Amino acid sequence: MPTVLALETSCDESAAAVVRDGAVLSSEVASQVEEHALWGGVVPELASRRHVEALPHLVERALTNAGVSLSDLDAVAATVAPGLLGALMVGSVTGRCLAQLAQKPFIGIHHLEGHLCSALSGDQAPQGPMLVLLVSGGHTELIALRAFGQYERLAGSRDDAAGEAFDKVARLLGLAYPGGPALEIAAKGGDPLRFRFPPGRISLPDGGVHPYDFSFSGLKTAVLREVQRWQIAGEPLPVNDLAASFQQVICKVLVERSVRCAVDQALPGLVVVGGVSANAELRRQLTGACTAASLNLHLAPLAWCTDNAAMIGLAACKRLQMGQSSALNLGVAPRWPLANAIELYGTAPF
Ligand code: KG4
Ligand code: ZN
Repeated sequence: MPTVLALETSCDESAAAVVRDGAVLSSEVASQVEEHALWGGVVPELASRRHVEALPHLVERALTNAGVSLSDLDAVAATVAPGLLGALMVGSVTGRCLAQLAQKPFIGIHHLEGHLCSALSGDQAPQGPMLVLLVSGGHTELIALRAFGQYERLAGSRDDAAGEAFDKVARLLGLAYPGGPALEIAAKGGDPLRFRFPPGRISLPDGGVHPYDFSFSGLKTAVLREVQRWQIAGEPLPVNDLAASFQQVICKVLVERSVRCAVDQALPGLVVVGGVSANAELRRQLTGACTAASLNLHLAPLAWCTDNAAMIGLAACKRLQMGQSSALNLGVAPRWPLANAIELYGTAPF
């Protein structure tokens, strides 16, 4: 039963967790959201400094709450890619030092594999080939998963990530940062059919449109134009209706293309992970569409949708079980495809 201490510092949440054989023993998260909200978005340098301050306390609490000490660990894991360079460095250096102290292997984890593992663990863990819809602040991807660790990217966003679109539109509507949760609340009192925003299509050179790829920049511009129309007219913004109409179309497009991709690729399951998968309207639409298409839907538990270290620990347990660990000179990479996650084990690629 391997016991792993896991660290996550790729963006604006500092987190530490202890996971034993796929069960989360403790999970500590210190969010920096309130501080970054003052600037309207994540300030990378500030994020790194806050990780340095928070991590020692989080590690101590995670170990204490799990009732384990360094000597009980079988490995130490940390997110090493993708993310903010300085922020990743804090978790990676801390993780490698602790691994050396404990005289145990270090396991570098791909952040998106962590998100995936938030939905692949527990008694109800999905089995067999599946399509993964990964929707976070930095990524929107459709990935075929035929066996753990073997990822084939089938489609994704050509511009903004879905979470980024939520954040930018929320900002246009004068809502708080981070935009996703604030926009979801604003949309609750709104009419989703009042404004018709474009779903965003990718034209193919030979004609027609890409069946699965996403584009959210046109959608964002359409909201901007509508906001400007109201401002020029000197009318108060119908924030709730704008939020509900935007949320309706972005969820619809995510659901329709994911379901079509899973059906076309004969993948019987759809797994949805990442910060945006916390959105209740997205979960509602997914549930209906997957039932209609006879797809098995697996949603990340709400508590594990946004960044945390438990998901990094769950991924590390799987890598450890596969006999894989990372070189101690493994660095960090702000960008690294999930399909190349296997290169994090053995000789360091960066
Ligand atoms: O996965 P995550 O915590 O961090 C990244 O790896 O990016 O995702 C953060 C993103 C942000 O863009 C945030 O606005 C969005 O997820 N998000 C949501 C909701 N909760 C978080 N978007 C829509 N609805 C939500 N309830
Ligand atoms: Zn994330």
